Amino acid sequence: MMVQTSPCALLFWGLLGCVWVLPVLIAPSSPTLCTSLRTLNTNLTQRRRYMKHNFPINYTIRVHYEEVFKPRNITRLKSQVEGLEDKDLQEVWLLVNKEVLKHILRVLPERHPSYRYTFSLQDLFLKVQQMLPSPDEWEPPERIQEICDRIKDPDYPGWTFITPKSLLDNFYRSMRCLFSDCFSIQYPEELNYCNVSHWLRHKSEHQT
Ligand SMILES: *[C@@H]1O[C@H](CO)[C@@H](O)[C@H](O)[C@H]1NC(C)=O
Ligand SMILES: *[C@@H]1O[C@H](CO)[C@@H](O)[C@H](O)[C@H]1NC(C)=O
Ligand SMILES: *[C@@H]1O[C@H](CO)[C@@H](O)[C@H](O)[C@H]1NC(C)=O
Ligand SMILES: *[C@@H]1O[C@H](CO)[C@@H](O)[C@H](O)[C@H]1NC(C)=O
Repeated sequence: MMVQTSPCALLFWGLLGCVWVLPVLIAPSSPTLCTSLRTLNTNLTQRRRYMKHNFPINYTIRVHYEEVFKPRNITRLKSQVEGLEDKDLQEVWLLVNKEVLKHILRVLPERHPSYRYTFSLQDLFLKVQQMLPSPDEWEPPERIQEICDRIKDPDYPGWTFITPKSLLDNFYRSMRCLFSDCFSIQYPEELNYCNVSHWLRHKSEHQT
């Protein structure tokens, strides 16, 4: 084995890496992506304990309006934005929840019982992010670009206050809606969070 890797060897292995990674990026819900999403799903089912019981009553975090991203938003954007693709919505989901996890971690001291939980969610989430196409090669519709710009702009003046539990509820439900093909075996069609009648019927349960 070589001890020191030459730039050429690096380039070679780098290119080989691209060849390996590309098919994963193109398939919208590859088996590895689905596996990571299902782990994230399992961990997110613990959110009530870590985000509600471990926090003071009615504790809220300040977020941009656009960081409130629910299945309802997905339905609305799908009906309003022409030429919208799943990839665009997935990028919004990635950007929103990257920020959401940062917001939650920022208010937690390292010894807080919810810190490790949130940290491991972030870890799982980053794995999912690596498997989705990078935004460099991405040209979203104007409305989507606007949403992303607002989220990235710390001076944009649209703020709201929301509980950490609600943030993770949105994280969970929008994931189940956007990547429903990864969950169709585990959960039957009527449990698809994109289904409007689903969240109307389970409204009271969702608000707990
Ligand atoms: C979350 O996932 C990680 C990695 O799979 C695991 O080690 C951890 O125990 C999980 N945490 C909870 C609370 O489920
Ligand atoms: C928490 O919020 C609910 C609903 O807004 C309110 O009824 C309740 O009094 C609040 N509790 C505390 C401790 O502030
Ligand atoms: C989702 O809808 C809420 C209003 O219900 C809005 O404040 C928020 O900006 C929307 N989020 C996105 C990402 O469009
Ligand atoms: C939506 O959910 C309802 C029940 O909650 C179910 O009867 C219906 O088949 C579902 N529709 C779709 C398109 O999945």
